[in-house]
Amino acid sequence: MAAAALVASVMLIEAVRADDLASVVADRQAAMKAMSGKLKVIKGFVDSGAGQAEAADAAAVLVQTAKLIPGWFPAGSGIDSFSGKTAAKPEIWTDPAKFQATATAFQLDASALQKAVAAGDGAAAAAAFETMGREGCGACHGAFRAKT
Ligand code: HEC
Repeated sequence: MAAAALVASVMLIEAVRADDLASVVADRQAAMKAMSGKLKVIKGFVDSGAGQAEAADAAAVLVQTAKLIPGWFPAGSGIDSFSGKTAAKPEIWTDPAKFQATATAFQLDASALQKAVAAGDGAAAAAAFETMGREGCGACHGAFRAKT
């Protein structure tokens, strides 16, 4: 009886854990989409020179968000466990140093972008925008996000 109860409670814990991880996947995908939204706001400033204050705010959000990204990928939340639901490649966990370094590069690039936007320097903002897209979003997706 006691053993059966233990097994049942362990299974319950496992179920809760899988559920938690599923919501981690959904939450991080929503957060990534929100970053795309910030990117659009910044692109508006880069393209037109209008909306500087909003763009500076958006860039500041990216800087803060960059720090959180590694925490969005707990072990067991990748394609192996959530096939069809996530694009998070196993390399996130087999090469964590590279994943962290890519997140850090993104953070530094976002910070440079934020400074350029805050300074109202359109040319510098355009260059920093391109660099961040390449070394941050693009590099990480290239290495760690599966094509779906
Ligand atoms: C350090 C790595 C990393 C960085 C930096 C990064 N991403 Fe992602 N992104 C991922 C991974 C991994 C996924 C797949 C997540 C999943 O499916 O669970 C993803 C998924 C996405 C998605 C799809 C979300 C969905 O609904 O499935 C969007 C949109 C996205 N990222 C936008 C961005 C933008 C815009 C930037 C830069 C401003 C960015 N990402 C920076 C790793 C990163």
